[in-house]
Amino acid sequence: MSSNVTIDPDVSSTLYGRDLQSCIENLPAFNSNDPVAYTQPPNPGWKFGMKVEETEEGRKWVEGEKQGWKRVDTEGEDWMKVYQLMLSGIQPRPIAFVSSVSEDGVDNLAPFSFFNAVGPFPPLVSYSAMNLTWETDGTSKFKDSVENTTKEFTVNMISIPWAEQANFASIDTPHDVSEWELTGLTKMESTHVKAPRVKESAFSMECELFHTYDIIHPKTKQHTGTVVYGLVKCIHVRNDVLVDSKELEASGHKAKIIVDPAKIRTIARMGDITYGHVREPFRLPRSSWEKDGEVVKKVVDEYKKEKGLGN
Ligand SMILES: Cc1cc2nc3c(=O)[nH]c(=O)nc-3n(C[C@H](O)[C@H](O)[C@H](O)COP(=O)(O)O)c2cc1C
Repeated sequence: MSSNVTIDPDVSSTLYGRDLQSCIENLPAFNSNDPVAYTQPPNPGWKFGMKVEETEEGRKWVEGEKQGWKRVDTEGEDWMKVYQLMLSGIQPRPIAFVSSVSEDGVDNLAPFSFFNAVGPFPPLVSYSAMNLTWETDGTSKFKDSVENTTKEFTVNMISIPWAEQANFASIDTPHDVSEWELTGLTKMESTHVKAPRVKESAFSMECELFHTYDIIHPKTKQHTGTVVYGLVKCIHVRNDVLVDSKELEASGHKAKIIVDPAKIRTIARMGDITYGHVREPFRLPRSSWEKDGEVVKKVVDEYKKEKGLGN
């Protein structure tokens, strides 16, 4: 990597010397058939205590172990290698499409996949932005989103029909150039915060800054990133992506408002330039000790006896 140029691995179009456009040329067209059908879980015959290899899916999965493991110790390793490995191994990752406004009034829009919900009480989300200038000139020049989210921002979930627009917003425009016009997406006024939300998003959160956490490298003491926590003041959700309220009531669900993954069709980051989405959500009931404890214990004991396993 050149010593006087900052290359953001997420925006460089020739990452690791590749022409990224040619990576997609020979792929089949996107399958836009309305795909989604809920299915049963992958191993409906699984009972508490059974080993992975005792189901058909599990047996095939465990076969892969024959090829062994690679071990990557991170200390002293090329950070880009570690980054690419984490980016592709920790997946699927939801993507926050962050809209913010600078002090001088420039709107900003950028995707962040180091993102997740933190908790509901208070309702919190977080995203994390890398500060890449530490690598080249040792300065702390943060991404516009971080500079701007000192007070407030919106987080918008991205759906398949406008994946290209959202992806394009990762372009490294100069500070005074807004990504909004370039993407063709539509600003919609927010209720609680100055930053607009994305009209095309079926699920947007208006956030007030809750906390920022500076990532300081424990060895080099460089400021390599910032985690931004947002307090969700308000959620806008499109009616057509919700689970039908009558169905919800009939199922005895206590919640009044739930998003249907089959309808919202959000995209996830899968590493490198790969995105994914859910085609077949499956349903898998959970157990509680209070309700199922006795049965669970009995089945596990029987299983151990049958297999000659000790306690
Ligand atoms: C799908 C996707 C996810 C990304 N996730 C992150 C991330 O989690 N953290 C980060 O620092 N950059 C991430 N990037 C790169 C930023 O979007 C990019 O650096 C952008 O230019 C930052 O914009 P800003 O300077 O206007 O805030 C991602 C890019 C894409 C395409």
